[in-house]
Amino acid sequence: MTTPAAPNPAALIELATAFWGSATLVAAVRLRLPTLLADGPATAADVATRAGTDPIATDALLAAMSNVGLCSKGEGERFTNSALAEAFLVEGRPGFLGPALLYNGDVFSLWANLDSVVRSGKVAESPNQYLGADDTRTRNFVYGMHHRALGVGRAVAAVVDFTGKTKLADVGGGPGTYSALLTQKTPGLHAEVLDLPGVVAIAREIVASMGAAPSVTCTAYDYTRDALPGRYDAFLISGVLHREQPEGVRRIFSQVAQAAEPGAVLWLSDVMLDDDRAGPLFGAMFQLNMRVLSHDGRCHSVAEQRAWLDEVGFDVTEVHRLPAPINYTLVRAQRRA
Ligand SMILES: C[S@@+](CC[C@H](N)C(=O)[O-])C[C@H]1O[C@@H](n2cnc3c(N)ncnc32)[C@H](O)[C@@H]1O
Repeated sequence: MTTPAAPNPAALIELATAFWGSATLVAAVRLRLPTLLADGPATAADVATRAGTDPIATDALLAAMSNVGLCSKGEGERFTNSALAEAFLVEGRPGFLGPALLYNGDVFSLWANLDSVVRSGKVAESPNQYLGADDTRTRNFVYGMHHRALGVGRAVAAVVDFTGKTKLADVGGGPGTYSALLTQKTPGLHAEVLDLPGVVAIAREIVASMGAAPSVTCTAYDYTRDALPGRYDAFLISGVLHREQPEGVRRIFSQVAQAAEPGAVLWLSDVMLDDDRAGPLFGAMFQLNMRVLSHDGRCHSVAEQRAWLDEVGFDVTEVHRLPAPINYTLVRAQRRA
């Protein structure tokens, strides 16, 4: 008879220290080290002089960065960006993900109090902070969404199809990036980005910078209070429903149904859970992130949303699961005629 092997605690130590890697990435981006290294290999002392940082601590950060795949140390003790850092962490490059990653830096300290959130059921900080109340946080959040949509999120705009539709309501449209991309790919489509006033002010600036202003308008709207301000034959609800409990989702679906032309098409795009709500890993963790950030944060399954849509006269016609790094599920539904 063999004795079962004793469990190895290595996985626990790895989990307990996983935040080291995350903090290393956030600090590297905040201090712009990959952008500085894009000029060519440099010693820790050179990098520290250019970044205005402490040379000994900078050397330690660069050593950590080289062990999590952000750079490597070579001849003359010079550090060079990894291919990953060159592609996604250098300011001004088309794939730059800095603002999207820095959003995680903003919420980092809130996760440290996860036990309090779970004990009390209350969020660590009001979501209003990054939805208009604090200018810098709001700007980081909205530009983070914009860069995410332009980078990894482009695949969403590639799948979402509004061919033949003319008036799109982009509910909780945030930076307006998806509206801009979708009107650019769909002849005859006009989009209305509907979001909270502090967010819409920044969306106008982003939509104009994308050259989409003639086809995209931005309107202040609060889905907890306001009815949708027009009639539409197309709807996009992207990354919004994970802020809401089931009653909130059903309220939004009901507002959509009241503003929908017969045959209107609705696309949902979000992190969704499996039908048993037990996973996948990214969905379970993302749902926890929304509990830390938003009073009503919750991820929903396709089965739940199919039932809620049916209640307001929409049939689900397509489901697409996009893999990492997007991790969004796209659901197409159509208003019964
Ligand atoms: C994660 S963002 C998604 C933005 C955009 N749809 C995207 O996919 O890039 C969620 C959006 O919901 C908006 N939102 C939150 N509460 C809202 C409310 N009560 N009324 C309207 N929009 C709201 C936020 O301002 C934010 O822009």
